Amino acid sequence: MSSRPAYPHVVVVMGVAGTGKTTVGPLVAEALGVPYAEGDDFHPAGNIAKMSAGIPLDDADRAPWLDAIGAWAAGRAGRGGVVSCSALKRAYRDRLRAAAPGLVFLHLTGDHDLIAGRMAARKGHFMTTRLLDSQFATLEPLGADEAGVDADVEPAPEVIAERAVQALQHRQGLQQF
Ligand SMILES: Nc1ncnc2c1ncn2[C@@H]1O[C@H](COP(=O)(O)OP(=O)(O)OP(=O)(O)O)[C@@H](O)[C@H]1O
Ligand SMILES: [Mg+2]
Repeated sequence: MSSRPAYPHVVVVMGVAGTGKTTVGPLVAEALGVPYAEGDDFHPAGNIAKMSAGIPLDDADRAPWLDAIGAWAAGRAGRGGVVSCSALKRAYRDRLRAAAPGLVFLHLTGDHDLIAGRMAARKGHFMTTRLLDSQFATLEPLGADEAGVDADVEPAPEVIAERAVQALQHRQGLQQF
């Protein structure tokens, strides 16, 4: 047990498919001493069926999903938590922030070919590599006015998580590492 108090902010681990949100998110949560929620678990069944068929979601599909994640985050306000959510567009992040003011984003960033290689090796997951190109096209990186940090995903998950925790705890505006 660490004597350090739990990190009070809710962190959204964002980034395109295959960047490691589900892998790194729980490590960050554990290090911060807060619960982790898997963003994919907030999708309505219809969204998962679409993605399984390789059909990109539209913004109407995403609205109830973002609202469900926002509700979870709002429920953790002041107590902290980590939730994964691709949150590719500024508008999606605005929707999350509207539900849960004070969110901090951890943007996992990586080279297209590195991520495509990891996705190709991943088994039993509904997200297909066909969606990766559209994800990169859709991605709007964090703006300078958005609370958050960027993390490169080349290192091992434990290294990314350790660096992320450091950056989150010493955050002043948007930082990259
Ligand atoms: N830092 C890393 N080093 C090596 N492999 C990694 C790393 N991070 C993730 N992976 C692997 O890459 C694949 C994709 O990771 P993961 O499923 O966590 O991504 P994701 O962002 O949650 O994707 P999705 O948006 O589709 O849910 C997995 O097979 C995972 O084991
Ligand atoms: Mg995932």
